[in-house]
Amino acid sequence: MELSGKCVLTGVKPTGTLHIGNYVGAIKPAIEMGNDVIAQGGKLVMFVADCHAINFMKDAEKLAQIIKEAACTYLACGLDPEKAIFFRQSDIPEVFEMTSLLTNFTPKGFMNKAHAYKAAVDKNVAKGEPNDAGINMGLYNYPILMAADILTYDSDYVPVGKDQVQHVEITADIAGAVNACYAKEVLKLPKAITKENAAVLPGTDGRKMSKSYGNVIPLFGSTDEIKKAVMSIKTDCQDINAPKNPEEILLFQIARGVCSPKTVQEIEDGLKKGGMGYGTIKKMMSDEIATMLAPIHEKYMDYMAHYKDVEEMLQFGAQKARAIARPVLERLKATIFYK
Ligand code: ADP
Ligand code: TRP
Repeated sequence: MELSGKCVLTGVKPTGTLHIGNYVGAIKPAIEMGNDVIAQGGKLVMFVADCHAINFMKDAEKLAQIIKEAACTYLACGLDPEKAIFFRQSDIPEVFEMTSLLTNFTPKGFMNKAHAYKAAVDKNVAKGEPNDAGINMGLYNYPILMAADILTYDSDYVPVGKDQVQHVEITADIAGAVNACYAKEVLKLPKAITKENAAVLPGTDGRKMSKSYGNVIPLFGSTDEIKKAVMSIKTDCQDINAPKNPEEILLFQIARGVCSPKTVQEIEDGLKKGGMGYGTIKKMMSDEIATMLAPIHEKYMDYMAHYKDVEEMLQFGAQKARAIARPVLERLKATIFYK
């Protein structure tokens, strides 16, 4: 894909407790892709979507904490705030002006069929409650805010997980509606980029690693916490010497997602031949995970301890972001208000 001169935008929803599934499945690929965009002469816009988080987090102190953690995580994992445009969503007033204008071009039916809203309605129905019980307009309008996030920077590409593709499609539809209304290209139509066969890392119990299942290996845990989590990965009771099919062994599936190719090969050979015990594999894995995460952990702690510097970086990013956002918003306003 030609990325030179293109704008690639990613929003990061702060979620709290991060695990290595988030790291290998979302954070690492986003940063690698971002660095690639920059290397190819494209523009990388990346922000902490703090307004999207209000929906599930009303405790202001906790919200501030997870926003801080999200910003420090991306920096610790290698995002370059000098080369990327990295900021906090709520620091860009243009996005909210844009949101307000876009509501007028968004058919209500789009929101009725958006995933997050539909899932909330389904939950209510299952509990026998009224359809809209406990659902606020923030959740209902979620896709319009996301459309504003994307359209305000004239984004070309939006790398997202499969669950977010619908939102990017709604964004393109809203932009299309504006353009059709004024018979010119006022807003740029974005495209979602998804990774085909994005691997899902299993957790210690074999289900998808997820904070809601309590089956995680923590991203910023101590060496002991990592070891404890790896030791708790479910194993079977086959004879240690029996040759095994690695594909059927949970330990191997997790190792394949997080260990170096050399270690993965070693584990694969050991299992196929037999004789390599699960305890040995767990030890290899926890050592390797701890070694891989140590420098990230160290940087993370450093950013968290010097958050004032991070705040400055975010403000610097916000200035760069607003310089892009302002003319796009003005262009839309000039069209709508015939200025
Ligand atoms: P959780 O399931 O722990 O609540 P989230 O839904 O907050 O995680 O996911 C945040 C990001 O991390 C998403 O982009 C998601 O695709 C990715 N992610 C979460 N769990 C995994 C996993 N087990 N394997 C790969 N990617 C994952
Ligand atoms: N909705 C996204 C999520 O839940 C986060 C997000 C907000 C986003 N605004 C965005 C992603 C704009 C891409 C583009 O993960």
